[in-house]
Amino acid sequence: MKKIDSKTSINLENKYGAHNYHPLPVVLDRGEGVYLWDCEGKKYYDFLSAYSAVNQGHCHPKIIAALVEQASKLTLTSRAFFNSQLGVYEEFICDFFGYDKVLPMNTGVEGGETANKLARKWGYLKKGIPNNEARIIFAKGNFWGRTLAAISSSDDPVSYEGFGPYMPGYDLIPYNDLDALAKELKDPNVAAFMVEPIQGEAGVVVPDEGYLAGVRKLCTENNVLFIADEVQTGIARTGKMLATDYEDARPDILILGKALSGGVLPVSAVLADDEVMMCIKPGEHGSTFGGNPMACVVAKAALEVVKEEGLENNALELGEVFRSEMRKLASKSDLVNGVRGKGLLNAILINDTEDSSTAWDLCIKMKENGLLAKPTHGNIIRFAPPLVINKEQLMKCVEIISSTIINFKK
Ligand SMILES: Cc1ncc(COP(=O)(O)O)c(C=O)c1O
Repeated sequence: MKKIDSKTSINLENKYGAHNYHPLPVVLDRGEGVYLWDCEGKKYYDFLSAYSAVNQGHCHPKIIAALVEQASKLTLTSRAFFNSQLGVYEEFICDFFGYDKVLPMNTGVEGGETANKLARKWGYLKKGIPNNEARIIFAKGNFWGRTLAAISSSDDPVSYEGFGPYMPGYDLIPYNDLDALAKELKDPNVAAFMVEPIQGEAGVVVPDEGYLAGVRKLCTENNVLFIADEVQTGIARTGKMLATDYEDARPDILILGKALSGGVLPVSAVLADDEVMMCIKPGEHGSTFGGNPMACVVAKAALEVVKEEGLENNALELGEVFRSEMRKLASKSDLVNGVRGKGLLNAILINDTEDSSTAWDLCIKMKENGLLAKPTHGNIIRFAPPLVINKEQLMKCVEIISSTIINFKK
């Protein structure tokens, strides 16, 4: 493969790629475990994990071996035919998460779209909502992708402005507010409430203890489906296999993506029991690539790695260590005025306005010091390393973050 330098890569992206992202100026060329290397060979700790897609670490050997073996055998058949990996994977993932059925898709946002379609269909067929009147309720601050449906439920103008008209039947209530939810769910036309157990893109917003169990209870009482968007929080990221596992809060529809493939391929999944999943009939939903044999073997290997390597416990234990170190830092530095998160999905709040460049400038300095992280919402820095990180590596990263912040000059 031809070698390319960072400057050339950035120039090419700027010239030929749409300008729909604002990346940190680092060009990554190689990854292994918790490490990434740029084109010039400089090594970094990855503290973003491709927005929690690489929980199992970069290029995990077991996942890559599954990919390579399947890639030379059969890659895609479409769902016009059966394939020899899909049923095996479907049984595996249904057992793994305890649902009757799975609907395989590719990206996280497609998982969200699928969950919304399922909920509407269930609303008409089972709940008896009059045709075309189903409502889905979301929480303010939600993020589930960039399709027209996803931005229609967004309250972030950067996401939705200039892309209307929007999807009807969507309404927003404040996050972490059970009274507001109770009021909305009284309307018999509500089919579902879709929510992230922790709002990742909003800046790692952790709801009060009891919120998710409260959501479950209210949904059950009002015959409304509870859709949990665990695309970012799922698969051990927060210290349990699912963030909803912290409470008595089993969702009716569970959406997974990102780390379902260990960051190797776009693989997402929607899980539900028959009462909901069987509402969709042949021809009513699908995707050419969804359930392809490569995705199936990769996702199975990715989930096995999480279990075999005890990544839930590692995230739980090291998450405690990390937050306690960040709290120490906050007590020493005026720049940090908050620490929050669960497991290894954490954030620090930077003591400056949302439109200031402080968090961005800090991320640039951390990059120079060998650690990659990115601000979310201007003044919040999310820290989400691969879950295969060990304590020694974590402490090294704490040192980089702390010294960067202590030595930072505006
Ligand atoms: C909670 C949540 N849901 C859905 C998505 C969308 O996933 P994708 O970018 O794979 O479509 C994201 C992406 O960041 C997410 O954080």
